Amino acid sequence: MTTTGPLAGLPLLEDLPALSGARVLVRTDYNVPLEERDGRRVVADDFRIRASLPTLEWLRARGAEVTACSHLGRPDGAFDARWAMDPVAERLAELCPGVELTENLRFDPGEKDDAEAFVDRLVDGFDAYVNEAFGVAHRAHASVVGPPRRLPSAAGRLLAKEVEVLGGLLQNPKRPFVVVLGGVKVADKIGVVRSLAKTADVVAVGGAMAFTFLVALGHEVGSSIVDLEHVRECRELVVGQEAPILLPSDVVALEPGGRALGAARVGGHHESLDTKVLGSHIPDGWQGFDIGPETASAFEEAIATAGTVFWNGPVGAFEDDRFAEGTHRVARAIAGCPGYTVVGGGDSVSAIDHLGLAERIDFVSTGGGASLALLEHGDLPALVALRGAANAPAPGRA
Ligand code: 3PG
Repeated sequence: MTTTGPLAGLPLLEDLPALSGARVLVRTDYNVPLEERDGRRVVADDFRIRASLPTLEWLRARGAEVTACSHLGRPDGAFDARWAMDPVAERLAELCPGVELTENLRFDPGEKDDAEAFVDRLVDGFDAYVNEAFGVAHRAHASVVGPPRRLPSAAGRLLAKEVEVLGGLLQNPKRPFVVVLGGVKVADKIGVVRSLAKTADVVAVGGAMAFTFLVALGHEVGSSIVDLEHVRECRELVVGQEAPILLPSDVVALEPGGRALGAARVGGHHESLDTKVLGSHIPDGWQGFDIGPETASAFEEAIATAGTVFWNGPVGAFEDDRFAEGTHRVARAIAGCPGYTVVGGGDSVSAIDHLGLAERIDFVSTGGGASLALLEHGDLPALVALRGAANAPAPGRA
């Protein structure tokens, strides 16, 4: 199929050869949360399994025999009963009877190493391969990048949609394009801040990662978390940028000796007995855990007039009610934004779900690390591999 924009050159399901009677291997991301019920391991949230069903059903409707494969957790190249796939296989059998599921790919050391011998074993007996595992598309693992070297291959519906939406943010977002980034680790996000600051009209930075930026600008941040190794990079980013990087002008901070994080359930008020709203100079011993009300208003104002919003990472330690208000205000502002809204990353998606706002978001990504990697680098190992498959369309060819 001829595609342009972010999907250019990517083989889609329609590019697979005749499927009637064909054996198709589908790489899925069934890395789902499990829980113990009556002494049995069961799937606690089947969102990722349900998200793969349109592709599985499309293939089966055309007469293909479908086998899914996935990783679960991070076992270290050997069998580990805690990460065996049987709870996932049970749920999959209920949702899509007739689809087989192989054992955890990461039980074999060849998976992470992209070992040729493991790829050979994986594709043995199959006629075609489909990648439907966006969450792992940033990993050059055997099951992600290997099969397109051997078999006619395609991006599944979900993978294609993720690439279309997230890739579209880099190519032609409706403006103003407002990005909200949060989370703890500045090291994980600095690349994406650098990349999006070139495309976006505003990059609003909250969460603990904001304190490294504040230190870079000469602010005192008390006992807040700072990544000293990245201070210089943050300074260069803020100073050299055309797009404004919006940093907190006030924060909700915990007093010295205040109750530990997670200890308080106070109903989401900014001021509690042991917290205070402070300016962006935080005295010794105080620790910032959320954006303050003035900052939340500035973020809301930017979001309210946005043509496009992308949000990844909570802007405060929202699991503790004393520090949840900033993230809740950002989530509500995004849900109310008339522009196109995209949310990626486990914690921001949890915040959206917790507030019952998921229906009001245009696109919720299934990939955390993968969505950031795509926005940072503009491409992913899984996509490079698929574009290299023998049946891939030449970009722009009719
Ligand atoms: C995820 O859950 O984000 C994906 O399945 C990737 O998992 P990984 O970080 O263990 O590779």
